[in-house]
This record gives sequence, C-alpha cells and structure tokens, in this order.
Amino acid sequence: MCGIVGYIGESEKKSFLLAGLKELEYRGYDSAGIAVMQNGDIQSFKATGKLANLVLKTQNFESKEFGIGIGHTRWATHGKPTETNAHPHWGKYSFVVHNGIIENYRELKEELQADGLVFLSQTDTEVIVHLFERFVTQGLEVREAFVQTIARLQGAYAILLITKKAPDMIFFSKNAVPLIVAQNTQGEKFLASADSPLIGYAHEVIYLEDGQYGWIQNNTLDLFERGKKIVPTYKALAQDKLSAQKEGYRYFMEKEIYEQTRVVSDTMMGRVRDNSIEFEELQSFDFSNIHAIKICACGTSYHAALVSSYLFERFAKTTVQVEIASEFRYKEPLLDPKTLFIVISQSGETADTLEALKMAKNAGLKTLAICNVDNSSIVRLADATILTRAGIEKGVASTKAFATQIITLWMLTLFIAGMKKTITQGKLEDELQALVKIPLCLHVNDFLHEKIRRLSKRYLHGHGFFFIGRDIFYPLALEGALKLKEISYLHAEGYPAGEMKHGPIALADSELFTIALMPQTILYEKTKSNVEELSARDATILAISPVEFALADDFIKTSQQTHPMSEFFEMMIITQLLALEISVRLGNDVDMPRNLAKSVTVE
Ligand code: G6P
Repeated sequence: MCGIVGYIGESEKKSFLLAGLKELEYRGYDSAGIAVMQNGDIQSFKATGKLANLVLKTQNFESKEFGIGIGHTRWATHGKPTETNAHPHWGKYSFVVHNGIIENYRELKEELQADGLVFLSQTDTEVIVHLFERFVTQGLEVREAFVQTIARLQGAYAILLITKKAPDMIFFSKNAVPLIVAQNTQGEKFLASADSPLIGYAHEVIYLEDGQYGWIQNNTLDLFERGKKIVPTYKALAQDKLSAQKEGYRYFMEKEIYEQTRVVSDTMMGRVRDNSIEFEELQSFDFSNIHAIKICACGTSYHAALVSSYLFERFAKTTVQVEIASEFRYKEPLLDPKTLFIVISQSGETADTLEALKMAKNAGLKTLAICNVDNSSIVRLADATILTRAGIEKGVASTKAFATQIITLWMLTLFIAGMKKTITQGKLEDELQALVKIPLCLHVNDFLHEKIRRLSKRYLHGHGFFFIGRDIFYPLALEGALKLKEISYLHAEGYPAGEMKHGPIALADSELFTIALMPQTILYEKTKSNVEELSARDATILAISPVEFALADDFIKTSQQTHPMSEFFEMMIITQLLALEISVRLGNDVDMPRNLAKSVTVE
C-alpha cells in the first residue's frame, strides 16, 4: 500500500530516492519522507500530501558522497496522514521505513513504553526502530539486533533500516509484501518495493521471498533465510516503466484482480482476532441507542452495501435500508437520530455520497464511513471511519476495492452482532474461521483464468446479458453486470433469479446470455429451477457452480465450499475475469473505459 526505496553508493542519493518515490506515488500519497546518512550523520525530511511537497523541502539538500538513503511514500493505515506519522521513523540514532502492517504492534508498543520509551507517532512502524535500538542498548551487535528485531514482528512488512551505529550498512527484511534488491555494473545497490523505481538505475534484481532478510555493507550483499545464509541470484531487469508499474500484468484491472488475496488479508489484519472482531477506529464510537442502519453509496460501493444488508439482518438482527445516494438526496428522507448512517465509498470524494453524508449529519445521525482513501472529504466529515486498505485502485472498474468493502462490512456485521449478542460465540467463531480462509478463495489459478479467456470469445455479441443470483448472490449479479457494462459496452443487467419470470424472461432466446450464479450453500435448488425456466426458453446459459448443471451451454466449476461467502468471493473473481477478457477481445480500453471516471465529484 505504501512504496519504499533505498540506495547505498556514491551517487547523489536524493535524486534516486525522489525519482523512485515519484514512480511509487500511485501506491500512496498521504505523505512522503527520506533519510540520508553520510559521514556518520543522518538527515531526514518529511512532508504531507503529494511528493512535490517533499521535493520542495529538499531542494537545497545535496548528498553527493558515499552514503545511504531510504525513502517512503505513505498510504495511511495506522494514524492520520500527518508529518509525524510520515516515514522514516526514528529512535535515537536509527531510521526505518516500512510497507505493510505490524499486526502485534500494540503489545510491542506497550512493552517498549513500559521500558520508558516515548513514541512520537501513532504508527505501527515506530516499534521497529525502538525494538532495534533496545537490542543494541542491551549489547547486541547491530546485525544480531536487527535479526532479533524482525523475529519479534508479526504481520506483513518490507523494512529498510539505517543506523549511525553502522554508517556503511543498510538492513532489510521482507514478509508478505514485495521487496527487491538491485544492482548495476558500477557496483551500486538499490532497494525498492516494485520494479519501476529501479529502471534506468539498476540492471539486475532479486525479488526477495517471504522470510528473507539481510544487509548490504558498502557493495556487499548478505542474504539470509530462516537463519541460513543463501547465495543471491540476480536476474535481468526489464526496462519498460509502465509495464513495471503493472508488475507484469497487461492492465491495472488485471493486476488489481490478482491483488485481492493480499489486500483482503491487509483489510483483516489486526481486526480479526481468535474469538472476536476488533476495530481500533471504533473504540470511542457509541453504538448504544442505535436501532436501525441506513447505508448510502453509488455504483460498486452500492452493491457492497446491498450484500451487507443481508448480513446485517442475518447476524446483527438490525433493520437495514440501502439507498443509492443520488436518489436519497432528493427524496426528502425521514431521518431518525437512532439510525446509524453508513456511507461506503472507494474514493471518499463521490459528490452524491458526500452530500448524503452531510444531510445525515445535519439531521443528527451518527455517521460511519467505509472508505479506501484516508483524509478524503468523506473521511474528514464522518464521525468515524473504517479504512478498507485496498491500496490505490487504478482501473476505473472497481475490483479490489469492492472485495475489501465486502470484507469490512462482513467484519462490521459480526462486530455489531457480538456487541448486541445476537450471535452465539460458537457461530461467531465459525464466521471468523470462514473470514480468514477468504484470501485462499481469492487466489486466481492459471487454469481458471485461461478457461475464462477461452470462453470469452463466445460472448462478444448477442442482445444482452442477465446475471442472476439469489440472496447475497443477487448483489453479486448486479456487480458482475456492472463490471461487464463498464468495460465491454455490452448491455448487461443483474437480476434476482426468482424475479426473471415476472417480466425479463420475455427476452429469452438463444441470443440472450444468462450468467447464472448457482452456489451450493444458498438456495441451490431454487436458483436451479429459475435457470431451468430460462433454459427451456432457449436462453444461452453460462452456469457458475460447484455442482455440474446438465442444461448449461457453458460451465465454470467452482470449488466445494461450506460457507456462502467463500462461494461469493470465488464467483466474484470469475465475473471480474469474464468482464476483463470480453473487454480485451473487443479491443476496449480496459483501465480507462469510455465515458467513465474513477471518482465522480459532480452531481
Ligand atoms: C464512479 C466509478 C465507479 C464507482 C462509483 C462510486 O462511478 O466509476 O466504479 O463504483 O463512482 O465511487 P466511490 O469512490 O464512491 O466508491
């Protein structure tokens, strides 16, 4: 979600660090910072907002002799996007940048505070530097202190650390987020969280594996895995910047579909506990006296809201009303202050959603935002916010933001259900177990993708698509149809499977394509009957199900699951890939489809 860069050598460090951060700025632009060590001294600069602010702050700074530099561009997860929370974070003589989330930072922080350490920021990252310095104070040699530090960390991290105690060394460690070590023929060494900052500077790279760590001293790299020294194997670095940002994928949308397994883990990190859900951001939010929930959103976020309405009523036994924000604004809605008002927005800037939020606030309702962009207008206005941690979404057709919204809403449902005691502890624990398995369901396997790519050529014409499903698979059908419309420009509708017979079935013929979502865990037989009705009218059926369906023209088999949400996420991936592959075959601009915008700040 953030971006990091590092350099050790004799060239101007500031220029590589700033150019590298510019390449990574799309990953986060709440704040940025660098720290440069030369002649045994470290200078650090930080600025909030876009990178241009940091460029301005460092304009008179030069770093031309041998030295080491680290840099970071931030996408806030813990703590507001202030200068204090910007990286690098420092202790007495060491500086650190970090990408990811340290899941056990609270217990580490308490332990360090009990030792008298004073924390400057609200971030999870700051524990790293204090842990390291405590080990040094206890007499450990710097390398050993670093090894002991990372042994204490749980969660996802790519870390770069520099210290005045070792002025010719840069320490690094990687777990569950990317980190690359690179070099050029002049013997300079670089580190970055993605390829793109390295292009033009380095020729060879090592994509570190999870659990690998080490240090670079002058131009010598020492690399370790689980305590054992390993031989570094470099490979050539491709030199195309745009494709580097896409990390080998053809489109940002494709990359974002594949990223879902990771961002969904990020969204759950620190929130899904062994026997409860915890939201640090809701600690002072008063839920007593809330009798109903109203959710407002637009587009994909609206579909996420619809999914959650089933979950809220089922688990939290709370009445939920979901409204499209542009409709809500002008209907003279009755607003009861005992209603919790939730807005969902990827960007946090959608004008209709923002206005709906203002109306609710003015009417005295408690407001909660579920949003992907910290410090956005919606986040600033809402009483509380849960960030979805999807990272920047570049494809206009939303994919990973949707997945993280659903996960967040599912967690929120369980959180409220736990508080209201509308769920037994046993059932809650079953749900928590199902939640932590979702990243596995989101893993895209090559065979599935290839199958969808091949199938897509059959669906480039016709007079329309109906995506149908029941229960939570109905909003998924809406979302599947929206994805297809957005990037293929083909007509597609989402419909409740049971409602087809009340009108739309009149359209059925062989040129009407039905994408049938047929999960095994929810209303399978009912959905099957509805699909059979369409098949009897000669509609072309693409069935998505774990159960073979004899009447399907095409069939995508999903895995046998025991939880509806696992089936939901597997089918979500399939609908996203189907839209993508149809769009590719039609020669459309997948990432920037015609007439659409990523963030709609007008009415
Ligand atoms: C635009 C985008 C959609 C998005 C909708 C709501 O129309 O093209 O992809 O779902 O806005 O955006 P939000 O940022 O509020 O979730």
